[in-house]
Amino acid sequence: MRFVVAIFAASMIGSALAHPGSPHPDAQGRYTLEAEGIKAQFIPYAATLTNLWVADKNGVQRDIVLGYDNASYYPVDPGHPVYNAIPGRYVNRIGNGTYSIDNVTYTTQKNDGPNTLHSGTNNWSFRNWNVSKVTNSSMTFSILDKSNSSLGMIGDVTASVTYTVSKNKWSISMDAVSKDQKTPIMLTQHTYFQLDAFARPDNRTIWKHTLSMPEAKRILKADGNALPTGEIADIPAGDMSDFWSAPRELGFASGNAKFENNCGNGCHGYNGAWAFNEKRNKRKTVLTLSSEWSGIKAALATDQDAVVLYTCNWNDGKTEFKSTQGVAGQDRFIPRDGCIAIEAQDYVDGINHPEWGRLKKQVFGPGQQYHWASSWTFGTM
Ligand SMILES: *[C@@H]1O[C@H](CO)[C@@H](O)[C@H](O)[C@H]1NC(C)=O
Ligand SMILES: *[C@@H]1O[C@H](CO)[C@@H](O)[C@H](O)[C@H]1NC(C)=O
Ligand SMILES: *[C@@H]1O[C@H](CO)[C@@H](O)[C@H](O)[C@H]1NC(C)=O
Ligand SMILES: *[C@@H]1O[C@H](CO)[C@@H](O)[C@H](O)[C@H]1NC(C)=O
Ligand SMILES: *[C@@H]1O[C@H](CO)[C@@H](O)[C@H](O)[C@H]1NC(C)=O
Ligand SMILES: *[C@@H]1O[C@H](CO)[C@@H](O)[C@H](O)[C@H]1NC(C)=O
Ligand SMILES: *[C@@H]1O[C@H](CO)[C@@H](O)[C@H](O)[C@H]1NC(C)=O
Ligand SMILES: *[C@@H]1O[C@H](CO)[C@@H](O)[C@H](O)[C@H]1NC(C)=O
Repeated sequence: MRFVVAIFAASMIGSALAHPGSPHPDAQGRYTLEAEGIKAQFIPYAATLTNLWVADKNGVQRDIVLGYDNASYYPVDPGHPVYNAIPGRYVNRIGNGTYSIDNVTYTTQKNDGPNTLHSGTNNWSFRNWNVSKVTNSSMTFSILDKSNSSLGMIGDVTASVTYTVSKNKWSISMDAVSKDQKTPIMLTQHTYFQLDAFARPDNRTIWKHTLSMPEAKRILKADGNALPTGEIADIPAGDMSDFWSAPRELGFASGNAKFENNCGNGCHGYNGAWAFNEKRNKRKTVLTLSSEWSGIKAALATDQDAVVLYTCNWNDGKTEFKSTQGVAGQDRFIPRDGCIAIEAQDYVDGINHPEWGRLKKQVFGPGQQYHWASSWTFGTM
């Protein structure tokens, strides 16, 4: 059963930017960070972003990420969509639940068909992180991941994520260290966006959002379980995965027969990994998501070399969005295809593809520092 609390709606919309952020959590345990043009709320569970408010083209504050009203629901939600959380220590899939480092083979938990997803049981998106620092505009969560606490993930890892808001901008940086063993480390912020906050009266799908990724000319080909095959293919202009040659609506290829199983068996739309051009300015925007209806535009800059996009095919229409979203008088359910997850990260399953040359960015041992940094800048079209 999914759950929702309606009582917060009116007050939250009205007061979205009325007061500054606070270094103390509210009654629900949410920390609020605030700066000009932006307000963001976080909970320690999975280092999750619960709410993100920016102004639309009419100056209306919109909560543009998915989540629940009730912060206590995240840990018990059986669906666990990893809403705006940090999965780890190695995100996405590990093919066949195995990998090798220095000729030693490790076996991980197969929790996604034949593969491992998000490191398996006890992954970081199921833990309460420690709050190690908090101000009105910035906070840091940290985690100690004991050796083998997720099957086959050897060596203690300490990690932290720092969220900062500044004018119209949400910045995220992550660090991780493995003190005594070489181990796979690959992280992301698993952010689900809906730039209309489900308030567009005639359409709540993501298909009319527009995506632009001029640096994403290659894609990791994947099998029916969304596991990369090893092939990295150039994306021809006009192809279903082409968001580089021009900005396109996410639904532009929806008439195409291939679209129906494009992200695995029975999965239509997108759930894949795009590789960015190696020679690019990492300070510049690499991806822009926008919606004509709200006029909201979100621009990603990242030091990561790839991005995973997932257009919410598996939503079954039975989960409600937050009371801070939607329109009074309409039902409150997230439809299939109602959102997009955007996850800047390294190449999926790179630990099993030495031929890609990603091992230095995915395997870390004593004395080596894992670092990840991205930012989202918001504006209107
Ligand atoms: C932080 O926010 C609180 C109100 O929530 C305010 O009283 C305080 O002055 C703010 N601190 C700074 C440094 O802005
Ligand atoms: C919030 O969710 C928790 C966990 O499911 C539940 O125990 C609690 O009653 C909920 N709170 C409200 C106000 O509904
Ligand atoms: C898959 O992993 C199993 C061990 O769990 C191993 O015996 C088998 O050889 C692996 N298959 C492939 C194709 O790598
Ligand atoms: C791994 O095995 C190969 C082939 O036996 C060997 O050449 C190499 O030195 C080994 N590497 C390590 C780190 O043990
Ligand atoms: C993460 O860990 C939880 C708790 O152990 C488990 O129920 C869940 O299946 C895991 N999630 C994934 C995607 O492996
Ligand atoms: C939080 O810190 C305590 C004390 O250092 C530690 O025992 C605990 O494992 C930490 N929690 C996480 C999730 O890392
Ligand atoms: C990891 O834990 C599993 C049991 O969950 C155990 O079988 C395995 O030997 C452990 N691996 C190491 C390296 O400790
Ligand atoms: C929403 O728009 C998409 C793309 O134009 C379309 O395929 C879909 O049928 C629309 N949904 C509704 C409920 O009108």
